[in-house]
Amino acid sequence: MNAQTPTSAERAEKLEGMGCKRKRVEDVRFVQGKGNYVDDLKLPGMLYGDFTRSPHAHARVKKIDTAKAAAVPGVVAVITAETLKTVNLAWMPTLAGDVQMVLADGKVLFQNQEVAFVIAEDRYAAADAAELVEVEYEALPCNVDPLKAMADGAPVIREDTKDKKEGAHGPRKHYNHIFNWQAGDKAAADAAFAKADVTIKEMIAYPRVHPCPLETCQCVASFDKIRGELTVWGTFQAPHVIRTVGSLISKIPEHKIHVIAPDIGGGFGNKVGAYPGYICAIVASIVTGRPVKWVEDRIENLSTTAFARDFWMDTELACTKDGKILGLRCYTIADHGAFDACANATKWPAGLFSIISGSYDIPAAHCSVDGVYTNKAPGGVAYRCSFRVTEAAYAIERAMDIMAQKLGMDPAEFRMKNLIRREQFPYTSVFGWVYDSGDYQTALNKAMETIGYKKLREEQKKKQDAFKRGETRELMGIGVGFFTEIVGAGPSRNCDILGIAMFDSAEIRIHPTGTGICRLGTKSQGQGHETTYAQIIATELGLAADNIMVEEGNTDTAPYGLGTYGSRSTPVSGAATAMACRKIKAKAQMIAAYMLEVHDDDLEWDVDRFRVKGNPERFKTMTELAWAAYHEVPPGMEPGLEAVDYYDPPNFTFPFGAYIGVVDVDVDTGSTKVRRFYALDDCGTRINPMIIEGQIHGGLTEAFGIAMGQEIHYDADGNVTSASLMDYFLPTAVETPHWETDWTTTPSPHHPIGAKGVGESPNVGGVPCFSNAVNDAFKFLGSTHIQMPHDNWRVWTAADKLGLHA
Ligand code: CDP
Repeated sequence: MNAQTPTSAERAEKLEGMGCKRKRVEDVRFVQGKGNYVDDLKLPGMLYGDFTRSPHAHARVKKIDTAKAAAVPGVVAVITAETLKTVNLAWMPTLAGDVQMVLADGKVLFQNQEVAFVIAEDRYAAADAAELVEVEYEALPCNVDPLKAMADGAPVIREDTKDKKEGAHGPRKHYNHIFNWQAGDKAAADAAFAKADVTIKEMIAYPRVHPCPLETCQCVASFDKIRGELTVWGTFQAPHVIRTVGSLISKIPEHKIHVIAPDIGGGFGNKVGAYPGYICAIVASIVTGRPVKWVEDRIENLSTTAFARDFWMDTELACTKDGKILGLRCYTIADHGAFDACANATKWPAGLFSIISGSYDIPAAHCSVDGVYTNKAPGGVAYRCSFRVTEAAYAIERAMDIMAQKLGMDPAEFRMKNLIRREQFPYTSVFGWVYDSGDYQTALNKAMETIGYKKLREEQKKKQDAFKRGETRELMGIGVGFFTEIVGAGPSRNCDILGIAMFDSAEIRIHPTGTGICRLGTKSQGQGHETTYAQIIATELGLAADNIMVEEGNTDTAPYGLGTYGSRSTPVSGAATAMACRKIKAKAQMIAAYMLEVHDDDLEWDVDRFRVKGNPERFKTMTELAWAAYHEVPPGMEPGLEAVDYYDPPNFTFPFGAYIGVVDVDVDTGSTKVRRFYALDDCGTRINPMIIEGQIHGGLTEAFGIAMGQEIHYDADGNVTSASLMDYFLPTAVETPHWETDWTTTPSPHHPIGAKGVGESPNVGGVPCFSNAVNDAFKFLGSTHIQMPHDNWRVWTAADKLGLHA
């Protein structure tokens, strides 16, 4: 070979394909403040909407007087439920098969519920007028405690459903009951508990938290009366679903609805569903004939849009005395607020909660979840997790620590003993999930060695002795966490949303000059999709990533897809992208064979070209083949080089990780410092290691926020007491600890490129690890379980209860 001819490896490096730490292409606009968000959109004649909201958590609405509001200069219209009834939109369907008031209809059911929508020439006039809508309320007793929702005489939350014996997911036990959902084998689990040497039982609560994206939810609706077409720009994680549901609700034909999601400033599940703001902006645009913008403020976002968790998990483990797990039981009350607007695959009202057996080889298990109504905001989204996986991971990982404590075993040793072994994969869990691949012991061993686990335990022992002698007021906690995620919904045979099967799609067009565009049904909210999908194409097609443009978020141009949440982009659309590339490559191979006058089978692929087997000097590069596709195709072949792939995954993917954190707790102030946090993640084939690291840093920071301070808290009267960033903990760079990240690589056997999702793993694995660390600090004093969040006040209170301030 000529010395100047680049080697295959050199050519591959130039492509910046998979495995390359390619810089994020979207950052060129983001770091210059040139992103294009919904609120950047300014249309001629645009109006602005704002809500009048309920101060009460539960009240009858006796009268609404809009006269004073309507008289404010600049106000164009004021909409109430009565207005919406004229277009049959006073209530809207939810993703969970329930219905939800768009504007208060007879009652308000949670604080800050939408009561009236004011439309004005500018945002300030709308806000001023919203204050002047006069509402006469009759306060009703309220309930914000899910554990009391099904008590005798509990306030009736939903008068519209109170007499219904059947809900969307089967029989109802009580007028505030939404569903019961069960998985596993109760008899087998009970039998395991009957023969166990050691059992534990703990109410492990995962408080209500909120995804709190920096950009709040917002939209601009513009109805063109002449064409009968509606365009909605919005912060949508799933634009096609919004279009379909929008068409079903509004009866506007789907092809006349254009949904566009421009740049999104964080979603984390909060931007999956539909909110009253969207409906009101659309109706307002239809009524006024002008574009209408609706933008939430922070308090509205935190107190009314989709929350997460609020799972109260009574969790039990049964073991032999030498530490082999025999059984698991969990009974959960899930607080869904006033309307069941939980985002889940239709047939799983508690999502993927039955992943609760976690990373362990558990022979018998059963779980049962009751969903209930309370006077809280509706929602129930996967805040950077996959449909209730975080709750499940938290329950099992806390239970593992509590059991290890009772057995007198080290928590890492107890986990090691029960982890699913490498040779057991593909592993069918006790709940029927088929875990695709894993090498758990290697991961945990690597984590323990890297952090110096043994030494840390020795140091902890010395500190505990010093504490007992009164020489220090600081406790040291070591948190161990091992998690298995389940990401990449479909498969469509199991997963649908309102009957729309869950698959995803990619359409790739290669232009004559060898550049191209890839359009997808997913939507990045900061995950770097424009960078990474192009890397998959670069490796698959041998075209430089820089020559591929990635476009998402436009329902007119992208093939139908179910959107981005639950770390499904890589497992599903990443696979669709690879499969579309393979269709293109197959056509390119035929063109190459024709041009080189050989049989297709006489060609082999080499990074960016097809070459003749045994004669590598004879080749055609993909760039040459792209050109040929538009002017030199074999007789009978269609010109062009493009493909679309709808990928219905055969299974979920199961990323996993081993996390270890070290905290120092001051028992007199309750303040907890994270000394070290080590996170080893395995997401199969790694597309962009730098982006993965960024995803893990972000997810760990959210996990830290959740474990150490986040809670959407309600007082007994139903007032939200944490609806601003003064009260809701959103960690900044100041509070955020240093992260140590690491990885192993165990490819998924069923994914075309072996990749699993990763975006949510650190949230799923991080929260239990932090909580285990704080709990671990107090264990030697006899404490079993301290509830999250572990903010200073609660940690101080826990210390107080242990008599440490006497
Ligand atoms: O669906 P979402 O984008 O939130 O999650 P994801 O599929 O886990 O991907 C998050 C980001 O990490 C994307 O930019 C992926 O391309 C990237 N990633 C990767 O580089 N390698 C993987 N094995 C998984 C994700």
